[in-house]
Amino acid sequence: MSKKIRLAVLISGRGSNLQSIIDVSKKGMIDAEIAIVISDKKDAYGLVRAKENDIPTLSLSPKDYKNREEFDKKVVEELNKHKVDLVLLAGFMRIVTPALIEPFRDRIMNIHPALLPSFPGLDAQKQALEHGVKFSGCTVHFVEEGMDEGPIIIQAVVPVMDNDTVDTLSELILKYEHKIYPIAIQLFAEGRLKVEGRKVLVNKEGMSSAIYKLDDNNVKINPIL
Ligand code: GAR
Repeated sequence: MSKKIRLAVLISGRGSNLQSIIDVSKKGMIDAEIAIVISDKKDAYGLVRAKENDIPTLSLSPKDYKNREEFDKKVVEELNKHKVDLVLLAGFMRIVTPALIEPFRDRIMNIHPALLPSFPGLDAQKQALEHGVKFSGCTVHFVEEGMDEGPIIIQAVVPVMDNDTVDTLSELILKYEHKIYPIAIQLFAEGRLKVEGRKVLVNKEGMSSAIYKLDDNNVKINPIL
């Protein structure tokens, strides 16, 4: 395995995506290690998951900062201190400002439980159900200014059944979230992602077996795999 990139994972809650990244990292399935987990909520369960795995954590309370920019500047200070290569928003329920985006342009990813640009924002699965879509899914994208906005790296599609509830649809989508985020991280770690305008081009030449191993359930997330 080549040199590991250093990750920061930003969370606000449960941290199941964080857990999936911890798991693949511990198993050596991605060329990445988590340098720090930052939460904007001190009682986020994801902080417990990080501590259980001896990962440094930091909880920052937005009310201690004058505005979003000041909060984001503090985050950047911490990211630099921990020599972070790639920032992952994983259920981080805050709008990020240019103060964070600029210094980490094309090095911040977000995961969202819908096929963006449909249904950004809160309660994406509920929005999709209420809209009556036949397919939904999840998206990993580079972060730009705006809510759940930026060039798309990878998406997974799931069918929506007539009897789906927010819970059943969320559960199915989450399974795919846990699959595609590690793949996006490994593609980044292998230097395979190139942003051209709105598009993210994936260099598939000599794709490593690591990528295919991450797709252990043969999800075959097209068109990447
Ligand atoms: C995930 O479903 C993630 O896609 C979503 O929050 C959940 C966090 O779960 N993010 C967004 O809706 C961003 N707009 P987790 O804390 O268990 O990873």
